[in-house]
Amino acid sequence: MTTNRTSSLAAVLRIILRHFVTARSDTVYRIPDLYDEGVLGQLSRRQNLARGIAGVTQSSLPDGANFVLDIGAGTGILSIELAKGKLTAVAMDVLQTPLDKLMAKTLQDRLDSRVQAIRADMNRPFPFGSGIFDAVTSLRANRYIECFSDFLAETLRVLKPGGVMVLPIFVIDSISWRRRSGKSILQETTSRALRRVIITAGFQIDENLSRRYLQLIRRESEEADVPFYYRPTVLVARKPAISCSPDPPLPLTFRSFRSYCPVFWAWSRSGSMLIAVALWRAAVPGMQQSSW
Ligand SMILES: C[S@@+](CC[C@H](N)C(=O)[O-])C[C@H]1O[C@@H](n2cnc3c(N)ncnc32)[C@H](O)[C@@H]1O
Repeated sequence: MTTNRTSSLAAVLRIILRHFVTARSDTVYRIPDLYDEGVLGQLSRRQNLARGIAGVTQSSLPDGANFVLDIGAGTGILSIELAKGKLTAVAMDVLQTPLDKLMAKTLQDRLDSRVQAIRADMNRPFPFGSGIFDAVTSLRANRYIECFSDFLAETLRVLKPGGVMVLPIFVIDSISWRRRSGKSILQETTSRALRRVIITAGFQIDENLSRRYLQLIRRESEEADVPFYYRPTVLVARKPAISCSPDPPLPLTFRSFRSYCPVFWAWSRSGSMLIAVALWRAAVPGMQQSSW
């Protein structure tokens, strides 16, 4: 018992050291048992967190919509909660070992028909066609995003029109995200700044759904609450149903000037009519004598 506790404590210290000092926290994900059953997961009540985010995702979807991408899925705490809620999850992670553990867990829980594991890097184009997912979510993997605008562009691409991105944002990620991001210290990590970037990328923030996580943990506090330092701000952003890219600026040609200026438009209209009539009169014999 004492040996167990000592080794767990040592594991926690190792994780913290790697996470905040050497930025090499990824080694822990290669040992899925340590990650799943370790003290850190229990202290932070990760299971509750996953339940809350799965709840928000579920309430963001219209009836019949059920296809969800979980980015940085790891050993699948979120994908499994999504599957328990009758959604179909594609669990994407850059490492195979946690994905193997995830699939073993889904087999054990008889949820394997609802979860599919895919090994892929979220910092590269996602290996999916466009417009196929009803929702895209990612739990505690933001800090591995190297270029947030590329990530958003890919998310927008794979979402169906009207689909949602459910993104929990954690204060504790702000240092580690900056360490990995291509923008380094300039990486935005606060929910307010990220909200702006998400809107610029073409999403619409759904304010009601973004408040849903707090409502959920209030209502089902035992089931979904987590320690205060682990409580995320959840942004729910919708891909517009009709994508409307801004019109390219018009070159200032005669035509565009005419359409901007109604007086000039009227003048040029009557001007070209006069010219047309004069040409016509010149061309048709006998018209010169006739009166107007
Ligand atoms: C903190 S864990 C979160 C796992 C799971 N979502 C959870 O909440 O338990 C971060 C996960 O992101 C994965 N990850 C790191 N870099 C990634 C990348 N470039 N593409 C995809 N997944 C990545 C790691 O392998 C790890 O499983």
